[in-house]
Amino acid sequence: MKKISLIGAGQIGGTLAHLIGTKEVADEVVLFDVASGIAKGKALDIAQSSSVDGFNVKFSGTDNYEDIKDSDVIIITAGVPRKPGMSRDDLLGINLKIIKQVAEGIKKNAPNAFVICITNPLDVMVMAFQKFSGLPANKVVGMAGILDSSRFKLFLSLELNVPVKEIEAMVMGGHGDTMVPLPRFTKVSGKPLLDLVKEGKISQERLEEINQRTRDGGAEIVKYLEKGSAFYAPAASGVQMAEAYLKDEKKLLPCAVHLNGEYGVSDVYAGVPVIVGKDGVEKIEQIDLDEKEKKEFMHSIDAVKALWEAASKIDSDLS
Ligand code: APR
Repeated sequence: MKKISLIGAGQIGGTLAHLIGTKEVADEVVLFDVASGIAKGKALDIAQSSSVDGFNVKFSGTDNYEDIKDSDVIIITAGVPRKPGMSRDDLLGINLKIIKQVAEGIKKNAPNAFVICITNPLDVMVMAFQKFSGLPANKVVGMAGILDSSRFKLFLSLELNVPVKEIEAMVMGGHGDTMVPLPRFTKVSGKPLLDLVKEGKISQERLEEINQRTRDGGAEIVKYLEKGSAFYAPAASGVQMAEAYLKDEKKLLPCAVHLNGEYGVSDVYAGVPVIVGKDGVEKIEQIDLDEKEKKEFMHSIDAVKALWEAASKIDSDLS
C-alpha cells in the first residue's frame, strides 16, 4: 500500500492529486492545506471522478499533520505563486516561512518519506527544507529540471515539426533566469541537434531564441494567467519523480539535488541529472560540460548561492 501526501492543495496540489489518481501511482492520497476546505473539497471532487474513470485510490483532505503519517512520498507545493512582473526570487520571504512550518510538520510525522519540493524559488526552498527538517539529503529533492526540459523539448518539437517523444533534452542549473539548456546533449530522433544546425534545418539564432524562451517559460505562462503560475506541467513532472521512487525505476532525471563536490560545487542544491530509485537520489551523473556550458552552470550556481545568502539573512537557522 503506497501513500502520497500533498502539502498544498492549490493549483499544482489539486492537479497532482488528480494525476496520481488517474495513473494509480499510489493507493492513498492525502491533500493537506492550511485552507482545509480546499483540501477536503478537492479530495471529494477527485474521489467522485474515480467512479467515472474507474481508478481505485483513496483521497482525503486535512489540515492536521498527523494525517500524513507513514507517507511514502510527500510533494510540497505550499506557498504563494508569482504574479505578472514577479520573478521566482520575489517569493523568497513569504515562502521561506511556509517551508519552515512544513518542514516541522514533516519531520515530526513522516521523517522517512521521499520529499519532492515544488515551491519557488525552488533551489533555495528545497535546500531550506532539508536544513530545517534534517531529513537525509538523498531523500529530499526539488522538481525543476524535468519541467524546464519539457518546455525546451516542446519548443524544439514545434520548431522542427517533430513529435515531442522524439526529442531528448536536458536543462541544468538553478530554476530561474540563469538555467542552462544544453543543445549539445540534445537529440532529435536520435540525431544530435547540433548536426541539424550544421545542416541548416535550424539556425543558431533560432536555437538561441528557443533557449531563451525556455528560460522564460514560466513567466510566459504567468503573463497569460495573470492570477497564478503554471500547474499542469509542474504537476506532471512531480508525478514522474514520485513514480521513479515508488517503482524503483532507476531513471535518469534532471532534479535539484544536494551537490557535495559534484561539478566542483559543494553544499548547494541545483539541477543536475540523477538516478532516482527506491533509495531516493541513488547517483548524481557527472556529464562532461565544455567550457561555455561550465561557465553558464557556475553562473547559475552563483545566482542560487546569492539567494541562499538572502535566505540566511531572513532566517538565522539557515546560516
Ligand atoms: N501550509 C500548507 N499549505 C499552505 C501554507 C502552509 N503554511 N501556506 C499556503 N498554503 C497553501 C495555500 O492555501 C494554497 O492552497 O498552498 C497552496 C498553494 O496553491 P496555489 O496558490 O494555487 O499555488 P500553486 O500554483 O499550486 O503553486 C504553489 O509551487 O510552482 C510553485 O511558484 C509556485 O511557489 C508556488 C507553489
